[in-house]
Formats: sequence, C-alpha cells, structure tokens
Amino acid sequence: MSAQTESPADVISRAVGGTEYSWCRAVPGGTGVTVLSLLFTKEPNVTRLQEAIHALQNAHPILRSKLRWDPQSNIFSFVVITLNDKENPCLEIQSYDQTHNFYLTVEQEMNTNIWQYNNNGNEVIEHDVMFASVHKLPEGKYAVVLRLHTAVCDRAAAAFLLRELLGLFGGDGKEIVKEEGLGLSIEECIPAGKASKPFWARGADMLGYSVNSFRFSNLEFKANGSPKGTEFVRMRIGADDTARILEGCKSKGIKLFGLLAAAGFIAAHASKNLPSEKWEKYSLATLIDCRSLLDPVLSDHHVGFYHSAILNSHDVKGGEDLWDLAHRIYTSVANAKNNNKHFTDMADLNFLMGKAIDNPGLTPSSSLRTSLISVFEETITQNTDQFHKDIGLVDCIGCASVHGVSPSLAIFDTVRDGELDCACVYPSPTHSREQMQDFVDHMKKILTETSVPQ
Ligand SMILES: *[C@@H]1O[C@H](CO)[C@@H](O)[C@H](O)[C@H]1NC(C)=O
Repeated sequence: MSAQTESPADVISRAVGGTEYSWCRAVPGGTGVTVLSLLFTKEPNVTRLQEAIHALQNAHPILRSKLRWDPQSNIFSFVVITLNDKENPCLEIQSYDQTHNFYLTVEQEMNTNIWQYNNNGNEVIEHDVMFASVHKLPEGKYAVVLRLHTAVCDRAAAAFLLRELLGLFGGDGKEIVKEEGLGLSIEECIPAGKASKPFWARGADMLGYSVNSFRFSNLEFKANGSPKGTEFVRMRIGADDTARILEGCKSKGIKLFGLLAAAGFIAAHASKNLPSEKWEKYSLATLIDCRSLLDPVLSDHHVGFYHSAILNSHDVKGGEDLWDLAHRIYTSVANAKNNNKHFTDMADLNFLMGKAIDNPGLTPSSSLRTSLISVFEETITQNTDQFHKDIGLVDCIGCASVHGVSPSLAIFDTVRDGELDCACVYPSPTHSREQMQDFVDHMKKILTETSVPQ
C-alpha cells in the first residue's frame, strides 16, 4: 500500500529483563498462560468488544507487541510496529461454538499455548502476546476470554485490564489511562542498593535453594511422568464466613494469604494419613506485587510483570492450630520482605526456575513442582456494578496455567461482593481432579469451621 511508503513504520522494541526472560522460558513448558474469563447471559456485542480491546492495545503498547525470539542469540524482545492509529496491526477476536460449559472453556484456554515453539531451527519466531475469543456455550450463555503471556500481564495488571475492559465495553466510555512505550522491566526499577547482597551470602543462599528447594514434601502424585495440562477447582465461601475470616485476619494482624496457605498445609498433612506427630516440610511461594516498592513507583495501570516471589518452608505436623500456623507463615514472609528478600533473591529464584526447566529430573518424580502452594500477598477485591448486570455479566475467573515449572496448587483469590472466591489451579495428570477437589473441599472446611481468634 502506498500509505505505508509515505509514512514508514516506526518500530519500537526492547529486550526482556531477567524476570520476563524466566517467563519466556516457562510459558512454552505450560506455566504462565494467563486467562481472564467472563461469563455472560446475553450475546456480547463483538464489534463493541473489539473496539474496547483495540482501545486497550492502543493505551498499552506492550499488549499489541509481538514477543520475538532469536534462537541464534537466544534474545527475547517485545516489538511493536506503529503505523498510524487506524493501521495498527490489531487483534482479531476468535469465535467458537462449544458444547461444554464455562469452566471447561477456561481450562481449554489455559491449555491453548501458541508460545510452545520448538527450537530446532534458526529462524526468528514472533507471536502476539494477547488473544481474545468469544465462546457460544450451551443454554444461551457466552464466554469472553482474554489470553495473555504472563511476561506482559501479572495478576494486578489482569485485574486492572478487567476493570478497563468492562468500563469500555459496558460502562460510560470514560477516558482510559495511556502508557508510553513498552514500559520497564522490574529489574530496571529496583531501588538502588536493594538488590545487592554480599557475595558469600549469594553463594550460601543459592546452595540452600538448590539443595533444599526440591526436597520438600509434596501432595501425592497420581500419575507418572510429566504434567501435560492445567485444570482448576473453585473454592467459594459465602459472605458471612468470608467476613468472619477477614475479621479474624485483622484481629491477628495477618493477611489472608497466610490463612489460605495454613489451611492448605493442614489439608496436605491430613491427605497423607500420617501419624499426627510426624512432621513434614512444606514450601510456599508468596508472590509480591512490587509496583509500589519500585523506583520509579509504578501503579497497576503499568501493564507488565512486576511481581517477585518469596520462597520459604514450614514444618507442619498433625493437629496444628490454623491461626498459629497462619501467623507463622505470615510472619516469615513479612520478615523476608523487611529484609528485601523479594529483591535480593529475585535473580537467584529466576536462575533456579531455569535450572528446573532444563533439568526436570531435579524436581520430585520429574513433576516440575518447585513448591507445594503459591499465594498472592494481596487479595483482589471486586464489586459488581449495576452496568455489569445490564450487560449480562454473571461470572468472572482469572488464573494462569501451571503445568510447567510451578507449585502443585496455585491459589488465585478474589473477594467479590464480600465472598471469597479462589481459582485453585493444578497440573494434570500429576494431580487428579478428584484428589484436588477433595483437597480444596478440606481447605474450605478448615476455613469455614474455624472460630475467630480472640
Ligand atoms: C454494537 O456496537 C456497535 C459499536 O459500539 C454499535 O454501533 C452497534 O449498534 C451495536 N450493536 C448492537 C446490536 O447493539
């Protein structure tokens, strides 16, 4: 087209940072396909949806970038070609007719992995980082799903995108926040001095991580061989119980993640029918949203991956008190954070994740499990607006795949309209649906039957 020769394309690009690189390694193996799934009781206006998604892509250039991999240099980078607004290469919404329900659609999307290239050739490979689809489901329902590469969208960004998307799609068409360029990697924003640790400490920690981290106790593995897909079970707790639980956390001075992890550890110990005095060592990955701790400080409208993990472990025996264990878990994460572990150990944990990807045999039964459970330090809160009802929105699930290197159970918690709603994601067939449904049911029983501490 002559228009292109008259106004040549601008190409902006940047190489990925260390944490983004880890995701570029993990996603092809099946960890980090993020889905944001909405259930509607009316047919969504696809034209309008497409306009809303294009507006988001225009406001956040990283969402219309391509992830480029050059196998010769092993460099991954984000690349955006900007012509003018109208000519931007933009996402096409895919449409599907499904005979299965919403939950299976969510699972199907988590297991749709375009980033699973094989690396035999020498050709540069490029893929979009975001996809969107509309699924016509039985009984007159519709699912709208955004699927994203986790390197460009962590959970805080996903929650932000959901708000923006709904605002554009069904709300009053408010102005949306715009970002310049492709943003910064988290490593570029670590406050000066916070990531440094003495050389000897780095060596000692690395040894500690590499020798110990794969020796923790796990849930029983149901099948031999490596995980092939991701499934989830949902845990929903009613408003009264949720209010009691949140009140209990407040009076104990802890955050919800500590309680969720404690319930998970107690359920894990119980699942094994061990003598109650027998200790097991369980490991927990706590994901910290670092945006507010960075330099420059970022907010959730900076779409990208700005989480860091704190990995620690706890000895758990039978008959543990839920709130005491929750307090221990919370305190150890809080102490680690006070010591800047989320910054000092970031590179080590990324390195370790890469080691496990290259050598699955280092993980128990080659299951690629690197911890028992992962939780987020902060809970997402969402409330239903009138306009959600007007557009027929009745449900929402946000989570990411975990069948590459990952924990056995990743908990994506939301408090929606005062009710705790967790997508509990696990690798299959490593763990079976029946096993994980029992496990999560037990967690729920532990959480709802507890009395609030005095
Ligand atoms: C769908 O949305 C478009 C663009 O906002 C609008 O022009 C059109 O009238 C809508 N269609 C229906 C059936 O509401």
